[in-house]
Amino acid sequence: MNNVLITGAGRGIGLEFARRFADAGAHVHATVRDLARADGLRALGASATIHTCDVTSDAHVGALADLLGDTPIDILINNAGILLGRGETFDTLDIADLEETLRVNTVAPVRVTKALAGNVARSQRKLIVNISSRMGSIGEASGNNYSYRTSKAALNMAMKILSNDLKGRGVTAIVVHPGWVQTDMGGPSASLTVGQSVDGLMKVIDKVRLRDTGSFINHDGSRIPW
Ligand SMILES: NC(=O)c1ccc[n+]([C@@H]2O[C@H](COP(=O)([O-])OP(=O)(O)OC[C@H]3O[C@@H](n4cnc5c(N)ncnc54)[C@H](OP(=O)(O)O)[C@@H]3O)[C@@H](O)[C@H]2O)c1
Repeated sequence: MNNVLITGAGRGIGLEFARRFADAGAHVHATVRDLARADGLRALGASATIHTCDVTSDAHVGALADLLGDTPIDILINNAGILLGRGETFDTLDIADLEETLRVNTVAPVRVTKALAGNVARSQRKLIVNISSRMGSIGEASGNNYSYRTSKAALNMAMKILSNDLKGRGVTAIVVHPGWVQTDMGGPSASLTVGQSVDGLMKVIDKVRLRDTGSFINHDGSRIPW
């Protein structure tokens, strides 16, 4: 049985991943910030272990790593993320939003991956999936959203370097774009339901191999320019 660890799994794309992997027979280690808002995960019964973890906290992530000990993690999904200052322009950009967004979207996935890379390396599947965004593509950059775009571009860079460092241990690390998705973050006008997005991402995850490490992959399997 595969062990899958998903951050920010209490709602949105993370919760849908938890459901899909549980349905597929995996054991899901799901992290939430607030156990009072984990009903969707509790419905998964014995298929899911729910952990409390704010990914910006060294203490929380360290405690999670200690609790897991030598447990192999086949697939680590760095999913937790925020979008602050929606549509912010240079004039409206609040530096505090930029700092907080970098803490959650960039620094935290690196923290979690550093803490759990050994667990991934001792698993069968050895896969790290980072939920990034097309908005982090420098090649396609247009529009505003300084904080979010910058955080995802920096995440992409960190994971590109990390993919080189972990390749020798047989670990594949990719960044993916889930599409514009109907979640609290994406809003109701988004073009994809959570189910449609995760359908595509599950196919990407199924197909990806070590030769693909360091790729930026869309939910439909196509490549996205850096
Ligand atoms: N929706 C889209 O259109 C879209 C497009 C491109 C990329 N993405 C990316 O997809 C990922 C999931 O987004 P979503 O659409 O599912 O958003 P969402 O519904 O807003 O969910 C965000 C999740 O991240 C968690 N989170 C936020 N800050 C955290 C922290 N400090 N520690 C731990 N967990 C934290 C939230 O937990 P709480 O419930 O505790 O707040 C929640 O579970 C994000 O990385 C996002 O950037 C989304």
